[in-house]
Amino acid sequence: MSIIGLGPAAGEDMREQVEQLVEKVTPDVVAWRRDFHTHPELSNREERTSRIVAEQLQAMGADEVRTGVARHGVVALVRGKKPGPTVALRADMDALPIQEETGLPFASQNARVMHACGHDAHTAVLLGTAKVLVELRDRMRGSVKLLFQPAEEGPPAGEEGGARLMIKDGALDNPPVTAIFGLHINPELETGKISYRAGGMMAAVDRIRMVVTGKQSHGGMPWQGVDPVVASAHIITALQAIPSRHIDARQPVVVSIGVVRAEGAWNIIPEQVELLGTVRTHDPEVRRQVAEQFHRIVHQTAAAHGTKAEIVYGDYGPVLWNDPELTERAVQSLGQALGRENVVEAKPLMGGEDFAHYALKVPGSFFFLGVRNEKLGAVHALHTPKMVLDEAALPVGVRAMATLALDFLATAPQSK
Ligand code: NI
Repeated sequence: MSIIGLGPAAGEDMREQVEQLVEKVTPDVVAWRRDFHTHPELSNREERTSRIVAEQLQAMGADEVRTGVARHGVVALVRGKKPGPTVALRADMDALPIQEETGLPFASQNARVMHACGHDAHTAVLLGTAKVLVELRDRMRGSVKLLFQPAEEGPPAGEEGGARLMIKDGALDNPPVTAIFGLHINPELETGKISYRAGGMMAAVDRIRMVVTGKQSHGGMPWQGVDPVVASAHIITALQAIPSRHIDARQPVVVSIGVVRAEGAWNIIPEQVELLGTVRTHDPEVRRQVAEQFHRIVHQTAAAHGTKAEIVYGDYGPVLWNDPELTERAVQSLGQALGRENVVEAKPLMGGEDFAHYALKVPGSFFFLGVRNEKLGAVHALHTPKMVLDEAALPVGVRAMATLALDFLATAPQSK
């Protein structure tokens, strides 16, 4: 008997039933995902997606479907017959400003908007999971809360959104959530596999804006001004000393500048240069050290060239920390549902994921769902115009999510 199983006989029986239900909902999941894919919506603009999600949840008989959470978010509950804790499952719904180039028959019909990060699949998988859980609720202890979240990619400037706003709007309260699970598709991982990681899985993200100010001058007579372009070039180069010289080499750190904007002309040295970039770390103390070095290098390099630098060093999101104990339990659970050989350890990634905010509030565990299939050309990276996924991964995602929720509830202490 496993400590994670649903009890010896009942467990096997339940797993078989989950299996049958997953098979039954798969055509719906594929259809939903294709529909979302054809009609992608940008962050905080997920009106259609959110409406369909709410309609489908109501149609399948989910309890308490709440709309308008964090703008276009939907929160629903599937209440078991017996009392128990509440476990949350989360999916994100937004798309990216990318012109799709997949040539799929159900490709995006919205110009320069594409589900290139697979959130269409995440939403469809969670809807499918809801349908499975609704069928099993008479045998379920406790409740499953379904979070359909907008704006994971970040709200437009000046707007609030994403996981932070979901939490602010009470997504984790009433009933209070004891633990949370989420997943993300991964085109580097073969279909059929899931990868996990205890502890830090995805990076803490800092979003940085700098303005280096000098004095404008004629391009032919730079001595009459103070050149912020040359100062910025030195700043950009000097910043690379942070990961290579200042931080313990065994700690993952990335410092990147992606925008350098100088509105001069070929013969005009401008007054200002704007620099945008990001810092990625996996450890809170390293994150603090990098910020300190960053400020020192930028200010002092700017000063050395007679310019002044302003820095807005924005906290964009914490490290995604998977609770080690919850992850251990989940890995056993997934191993039983998908086969131990299909559950593999993930390397830490330098991308960010706003699921991290939930995992700061309650124990959380996040997984990658393999969608790679070379025969189908499902090999392109996330956030690129040719990204396609292997739909055979969709039922794997539903099985994983349903199993995680059911096993968590079945093994939770009775007193709650
Ligand atoms: Ni994503």
